[in-house]
Amino acid sequence: MDTPALALGPLLHEGKAKRLYATADPQRCAVEFKDVATASNGRRQARLPGKGGLNCRISARLFTLLEQAGLPTHFQGLLGDGWMLVRTLRMIPLEVVLRNRAAGSLLRQLPTVAGQRLEPPLLDLYFKDDALGDPFLSEARLAVLNIITPQARVQLETMARQVNSALHQALGKLDLDLVDLKLEFGWDASGQLRLADELSPDNCRLWDRRQSPDSPGRSLDKDRFRQGLGGLVAAYKEVDHRIQTLGLQPQPHDPGQGLL
Ligand code: TMP
Repeated sequence: MDTPALALGPLLHEGKAKRLYATADPQRCAVEFKDVATASNGRRQARLPGKGGLNCRISARLFTLLEQAGLPTHFQGLLGDGWMLVRTLRMIPLEVVLRNRAAGSLLRQLPTVAGQRLEPPLLDLYFKDDALGDPFLSEARLAVLNIITPQARVQLETMARQVNSALHQALGKLDLDLVDLKLEFGWDASGQLRLADELSPDNCRLWDRRQSPDSPGRSLDKDRFRQGLGGLVAAYKEVDHRIQTLGLQPQPHDPGQGLL
């Protein structure tokens, strides 16, 4: 992977798939996408060269698509292979999961059939806390946590549904069926709610409509690693290749902005 096109400050946070660094501008951070896949809350790991760069490029293009649709994100520009500049946000410790079809953990929790359409899309909130295993939040549990006002929650859920709908439509045109996805949000310095984290096959399920439903090649997402199917980097390359055809041009970081 490249070194980023700006001077890094201290490491602020290391997650399972990304590292977050300070920059000279307190309003902006640099994100490094690691060449690592994890499953089972980090208990299973593998090094997969090329994965970080792919997730960074795919995320940059999809953030650009959403910005063009009027949905605010933290994306501020590409810094090189596997590196992205983002706005510094005050993160909301929630994982927002949207499901357009039944898959994954839902199949173990509700009497649903794999691939069953969910209309309207099912939206669930989870508390983002690795030590607690990111527990599912009921209405009452969310109130106990006291991390978001009822008004902000409506704003967050509305934006999450708009993001899901924009991505579902755009990816559908590429024969990529957006089955479900996990989103994270934060507040910027001016109090604007923005989509954060990443938008890649690591945090969504994408089924290839060009393959038959029972083909193991249908999953073009991290289920390939979770289920030991192999071929994860090739699948992500296919997703990247199709998304490229949308002609979106994520902005590169402009060194004239004074961060070098
Ligand atoms: P699930 O079916 O395992 O609950 O996952 C639903 C969606 O959320 C799926 O697209 C994968 C994504 N996800 C994450 O990105 N991170 C997580 O920690 C979990 C549990 C799911």
